[in-house]
Amino acid sequence: MKRGGYYSQHTKGALHVINRAGAHVLDRLSQIEIENRGRPFSIVDYGAADGGTSLPLISKIVKEVRDRAENRNITVTYTDLPHNDFSALFRMLHDRSEESESYLVNNKNVYTLSAGTSFYYQVVPDNSVDIAFSATAMHWLSGLPGTISNHVHAVGAQGEEWRTFRNYALRDWESILLHRARELVPGGILVMANFCIDEQGRYLGNTGGRNMFDTFHQLWSELAETGVITEAEYMNTAFPQFYKTIDQFCSPFRDPESAVHRAGLQLTTAYTGVTECPYRSEFNRVGDERAFADAYVPTLRSWSETVFRGGLSPSRSEQQRSEIVDRFYSSYHALVQSQPEEHAMDYVHTYMVIRKSDWIWVFADRLEAVYKFQFSVLADVLRQELLLHHGEAQQSEFQQAVRFW
Ligand SMILES: C[S@@+](CC[C@H](N)C(=O)[O-])C[C@H]1O[C@@H](n2cnc3c(N)ncnc32)[C@H](O)[C@@H]1O
Repeated sequence: MKRGGYYSQHTKGALHVINRAGAHVLDRLSQIEIENRGRPFSIVDYGAADGGTSLPLISKIVKEVRDRAENRNITVTYTDLPHNDFSALFRMLHDRSEESESYLVNNKNVYTLSAGTSFYYQVVPDNSVDIAFSATAMHWLSGLPGTISNHVHAVGAQGEEWRTFRNYALRDWESILLHRARELVPGGILVMANFCIDEQGRYLGNTGGRNMFDTFHQLWSELAETGVITEAEYMNTAFPQFYKTIDQFCSPFRDPESAVHRAGLQLTTAYTGVTECPYRSEFNRVGDERAFADAYVPTLRSWSETVFRGGLSPSRSEQQRSEIVDRFYSSYHALVQSQPEEHAMDYVHTYMVIRKSDWIWVFADRLEAVYKFQFSVLADVLRQELLLHHGEAQQSEFQQAVRFW
């Protein structure tokens, strides 16, 4: 991500997504007891960037908790990768000027913390989080699973290369969920809005018109064909991302034997939704091609530049790298300006609300597992006895009875 508050100024769509996911948080919050439990009420935003887009939502959560529990301490923990610009976040939160919208201005006993720890690790202690929130962050994988021969994104990968990305992404998803399961308090909630491929095959920048990732690929391969970048640099460039389907998001919750289910996580809501590209909407309203390209391309650049810059050889100077990526985004700018009606970056998300079971349900689940195990051991012993003393016929009758049970 670019530094210095660049992100939230250029990502108005993200704000719309957070408002939508935030409605679920506020709805659940009204059902949660917020009496003082001898520990702070804890809110965590995973992959928060500069915190600008989640500020209105977190302000509303803080206000509601404060209204209902005047003296309860509240912590808000912002997490992101170690290189994230946390200084922009804290400058915004501690702004005491008249324009400040920070919830710290009017609320006592609210403590803001940050963790530069990836959500692929446990970030905060066991049983400590009341509300876990994450928007538009978990499509980033824990690493780059492999190369993609004829594209720059898994949406364009084929065969074995695609399967490698998919398997990696599914393991990553389980890891995210298991860490959150440990962190949440029993009864705590996890609300997420994650990029996805929806039921109609739509995904970010692919909702009609020109496919954004195909355009990235076309322009990057043109640089390879004209010798501006090497073949190795072209091959090295791929987004460490994967867009899951809603089915893939939900599958760990369907299987009662899955680690996620056994960790106590229960899915209560899941659906997909499209958020219109605000830059394109503005173009539709105003019709200014240049203004559209000027606003649209920097927003693409804010989250994609690290990938293209990272694909370039380490032997290149910083200046060379900057010239190459500037040229790349200038070409994108020219395309958008010449055919504006072909471009849009509509967001396609899966919205999910997950709850960690209360202790009693986790306990009941474990008891059931132990009971099932003991029953299967007992059944095995009986089966052996039958075989020894009464032969095959009775054993098969016995097996049918066991199956029935
Ligand atoms: C598109 S931004 C979303 C920011 C904000 N949540 C929003 O919705 O506006 C994605 C953020 O996720 C962060 N991110 C990516 N991988 C991460 C990881 N493994 N752990 C924590 N944050 C991560 C990025 O650094 C970036 O700040």
